[in-house]
Amino acid sequence: MFFWKDYYSVNIINIDNQHKELFRIANKLSNFIKEYDITTDQYDDIKQILNELTDYTIYHFQFEENLMLTNGYEDISIHKVQHETFINKIKMLEFNEDIYINQKRSMLEALSFLLDWVSNHILITDMKYKAFLNGKGVI
Ligand SMILES: [Fe+2]
Ligand SMILES: [Fe+2]
Repeated sequence: MFFWKDYYSVNIINIDNQHKELFRIANKLSNFIKEYDITTDQYDDIKQILNELTDYTIYHFQFEENLMLTNGYEDISIHKVQHETFINKIKMLEFNEDIYINQKRSMLEALSFLLDWVSNHILITDMKYKAFLNGKGVI
């Protein structure tokens, strides 16, 4: 499980809330996969949460990029490349209807890799705009 912690804060209320929401959806997805039971019909739920995670990630990245753009943040292009790379990775997370134990493990590993990536992205790349945007009055 990944939880938002104070040291993830970029001191911008909307962004902090969006990062929290990303973790919330990802944890929800992880729990659904863990508890997936072939005898029940949870497949559509899993697919729906994955779509929710993808859509919310795209929404968050666009929000962040707009904020950087409108405030004249210089390192936006490097940041955008990271976002695009991540969107491609998340789109590769495809679940088949026949989710058995082995596939379950590989899906959880893939999800955990993505969450690790998000944590690192927040702590390293997002942190780089913190002082700049806060200095522009974006909080
Ligand atoms: Fe972010
Ligand atoms: Fe970002």
